[in-house]
Amino acid sequence: MNKLFVTTPIYYVNDSPHIGHAYTSIICDAISRFYFLKGYEVYFLTGTDEHGLKVEKAAQKKNIKPQNFVDKISKNFSNLTTLLNLSNNDFIRTTESRHKKSVEFFWNKLLENGHIYLDKYEGWYSIKDEAFYQEKELIKTENGYETHDGSKVDWIKEESYFFKLSEWEEKLLEFYEKNIDFIQPLSRRNEVINFVKGGLKDLSISRTSFKWGIKVPNSKNHIIYVWIDALTNYITSLGYPELDSDSLEYWNNSIHIIGKDILKFHAIYWPALLMSVDLNPPTKIFAHGWWTNEGKKISKSLGNSIDPHEIIDKYGLDQMRYFLLREVTLGQDGDYSEQAFINRINADLANNLGNLIQRTIKLTNKHFNNKFPMKLDDIHDTSEILLEGYKMIDIIEKKMQKLEINKALEVIWSFISTLNQFIDKMQPWNTVKTDKHETAKTLSIIIESIRLIGIILQPFIPDSSNKILDMLNIDVKKRTFKFYGKENCMAIDTTLNNPEQLFPRNND
Ligand code: ME8
Ligand code: MG
Repeated sequence: MNKLFVTTPIYYVNDSPHIGHAYTSIICDAISRFYFLKGYEVYFLTGTDEHGLKVEKAAQKKNIKPQNFVDKISKNFSNLTTLLNLSNNDFIRTTESRHKKSVEFFWNKLLENGHIYLDKYEGWYSIKDEAFYQEKELIKTENGYETHDGSKVDWIKEESYFFKLSEWEEKLLEFYEKNIDFIQPLSRRNEVINFVKGGLKDLSISRTSFKWGIKVPNSKNHIIYVWIDALTNYITSLGYPELDSDSLEYWNNSIHIIGKDILKFHAIYWPALLMSVDLNPPTKIFAHGWWTNEGKKISKSLGNSIDPHEIIDKYGLDQMRYFLLREVTLGQDGDYSEQAFINRINADLANNLGNLIQRTIKLTNKHFNNKFPMKLDDIHDTSEILLEGYKMIDIIEKKMQKLEINKALEVIWSFISTLNQFIDKMQPWNTVKTDKHETAKTLSIIIESIRLIGIILQPFIPDSSNKILDMLNIDVKKRTFKFYGKENCMAIDTTLNNPEQLFPRNND
């Protein structure tokens, strides 16, 4: 069976989860669910990044031992996976012993293969980004330097182990050339290629000035650089250092979804590190864009972070999932505003989809005794609406292949609009008085189309689509894409349940 490995970044535990984290996780969930329904074996990983100076400082500030601190905040993130209804198979924490073992092995392998040496590091470091910067990447300010995103940098000078990244320039460029789809979207790919062409310096991969991390094997005072530790999480979860054939199959069809802020680590360091330990790079890195809040960058200092709990409490989970997936093209930046959110969910969910389902099923239940009214065999191949519906899945698959999630949703909503036009034109509420056969036909076409919509929407709004399929009494075993086609259409006399309101309208 086909396998797919999907990952989120592991989130730093210095911060509470906000809408940006929720966004990445929901994208991964939609992809995972999509391929699961398509019949793949999917392994979906998320988790928390718990080591490093930034986390150590956050714990100190709260006067808590780092371990107690990370236990507490990591819980907020694992609770978020439940709240978001994520289908993840694992939640990894970098403070777990399986991970420590994996990172130590990884380090030793780098050493054994001759990719590490000891020297002195002198240069700029941003604690916020846990990243080293060359001067040419920084902006001069009144009191020194800062990054383009405004992160503060400190000059550090200490003994450090280095990874011979500079030796990978050619091989990386060759790899990008051969694997056109490795970095997406395309604009990001070009950015990375230009960066590598600009020259790579060896990477400092250990620190001695703090304690909170995994120790360099056989060293007294060196801690492994948090990004080496963090990136390795992806293979720890697959069982590294023991990667069996199943794990390797997952690894050889893997996708890392990340924010554009951490592209360099994933698209440059990570493949070089992996090739250094004789492993393949992942299959695909997709860097999505940045969410702002009413036009402003979301930041701790501005205190304008958007809490997913609040949105979900107020508007519902599927409403939030839908908005985030529908509002922007994956890869582009998006702006969250409450008004845009309400407009979107009122128009698409409450009006377009919710009303259609309500009025169709209500009418059917009232006039056809809660039964699906008609045998579809004769109209399958002639109803334009049904033909469009059955064809839709192929179009969606193509969009999802390119990770055009919002386009996929656009296609589904265009079908929903077609159905709304159809019901308005056919007026079953009037024809029922004069032509019961015609009415049965209209309603049957729409209900069968709602079945298709229910099936195809599961990756995006899983709760609501399952409620839709419940209303139609669709066997839970018959909700995967294998059952999408006309062979499994609604059967005459299937009992329909009374519709419940799926998407209440919000006042705007
Ligand atoms: O970088 N808009 O963790 P992190 C969109 N631990 N996405 C956002 C966002 C926003 N405003 N803010 C955060 C780390 N994100 C490392 C990763 S992986 C081996 C280690 C999302 O807690 C986005 O996916 O800073 C971004 O890449 C991630 O959160 C960064 O989370
Ligand atoms: Mg960050």
